[in-house]
Amino acid sequence: MEPVKPHVVCIPLPAQGHINPMSKLAKLLHFKGFHITFVHTEFNYHRLLESKALDSLGDSPDFRFETIIDGLPSTNPRGIQDLPDLCLTIPVQGLRSFRELIMKLKTSSDVPPITCIISDGVMSFTLEVADEFGIPEMVLFTPSACGMLGYLHYEDLKERGYFPLKDESQLSNGYLDAEIDWIPAMKGIRLRELPTFIRTTNPHDTMFNYNLQSVNNATKAAAVILNTFDDLEHQVLDAIKTKLTNLYTIGPLSLLHRQVCPKNLDSIGSNLWEEDTQCLAWLDKWEPCSVVYVNFGSLITVTPQQLREFAWGLADSKYPFLWVIRTDLVNGGGEDVLSTEFMKAISDRGLLVGWCPQERVLSHRCVGGFLTHCGWNSTMESVCEGVPLICWPFFADQQMNCFYCCEKWGTGMEIDDDVKKEKVESLVRELMEGMKGHCLRLKAMDWKKKAEAATSTGGSSYINFDNIVMQLKRK
Ligand code: UDX
Repeated sequence: MEPVKPHVVCIPLPAQGHINPMSKLAKLLHFKGFHITFVHTEFNYHRLLESKALDSLGDSPDFRFETIIDGLPSTNPRGIQDLPDLCLTIPVQGLRSFRELIMKLKTSSDVPPITCIISDGVMSFTLEVADEFGIPEMVLFTPSACGMLGYLHYEDLKERGYFPLKDESQLSNGYLDAEIDWIPAMKGIRLRELPTFIRTTNPHDTMFNYNLQSVNNATKAAAVILNTFDDLEHQVLDAIKTKLTNLYTIGPLSLLHRQVCPKNLDSIGSNLWEEDTQCLAWLDKWEPCSVVYVNFGSLITVTPQQLREFAWGLADSKYPFLWVIRTDLVNGGGEDVLSTEFMKAISDRGLLVGWCPQERVLSHRCVGGFLTHCGWNSTMESVCEGVPLICWPFFADQQMNCFYCCEKWGTGMEIDDDVKKEKVESLVRELMEGMKGHCLRLKAMDWKKKAEAATSTGGSSYINFDNIVMQLKRK
């Protein structure tokens, strides 16, 4: 008789930037012999079917999907505007639904007994259920370690009077430029680089308090897992370790996954939008390192004016570009911005798609630069491929990631918040043909090698992942 497999229940926050790393971790564990239950929200599960990332028979006997409710009205689009509401509903209604699910799994003879719950760091209310059922829980935090260290100082920021803001004028009067010199391992950091949920006058702000509570909960978990690697963020990680002892860095998860089990469960995707894979053939026709890839991730929205500035800046740079414009990217509709005049100006030099296979795009030999919002997954995926960045951070840990890319790792250049087409044009040229761009590319290639070393046999992330597996199998 086959031995009973250890069983891990994985539950990400229901957003793309959280589902992707959790999915990689789940596939890695599955490859190591675990039975996996992967928990989506009902809403996202249907989206995954619609986007063809999953088919209704998508799971395998030992990698199964279950769903919980998120508590939002079914009409809500689950975009950035829903985040504060989601942070209110999911810890209540989602928690109830999750409790029922764990109860069902516990009493089912169809699945092995649950060994551990691995929850997203910002779904840590699930610890309550883990506790009730006597199941150990680990948490995966999907932001950078530097972002995480920022969140870990939210309490201090509150005590020192930085949160909440005294009045709205502090958002624009230079107040955010104040240097914060008391956070260890963050020399040169300013208030404006810290995770952005401090930028409010409301002491009860949902996002601030939700994130504060999430990092506080991390201390109760059996282990905290981060999608980063030691070489990249070692000082920050040392500082985090003074607060969280059981820390495992296993990133970049994309590389670790590629290294350990590249083909495992290939047919199980995690894209909430349907991928346009034809852009890969379009990329083939360009010179190596000549195409600018533009993507602002899964959550942020831009105004029609910002879209216009980016559009004409890219067009005027005369470089070929692949630009992902999600159906919900533009606040207030962008149809007229991307006018016939613009489409004529870019002729076949620019390709606009709704969603792309980003990792394959970044690894394409013709992509030479990435204009990004600095979401942590995008940042890590660019490290994996040695692609230099133009950074336009929007919210959460993105400002922090941008600061580290530009000031510490030497892989990026920041573009002003108040984006102008002339600046877009000049930065694109600088990135693709200038001396600065050349230096950024060399640095990015350097980090790529270090990331590969970390995820290869004997590397820090590789060893840490093995240790997690051992810890889980001991349970
Ligand atoms: C945001 C934050 O920026 C991130 O730091 C935080 O931890 C989670 O929320 P998001 O806007 O989704 O995330 O950006 P990012 O973290 O970069 O994740 C986007 C993911 O979607 C990446 O894995 C990327 O490869 C994928 N993607 C994006 C595609 O596969 N195709 C696309 O066209 C766009």
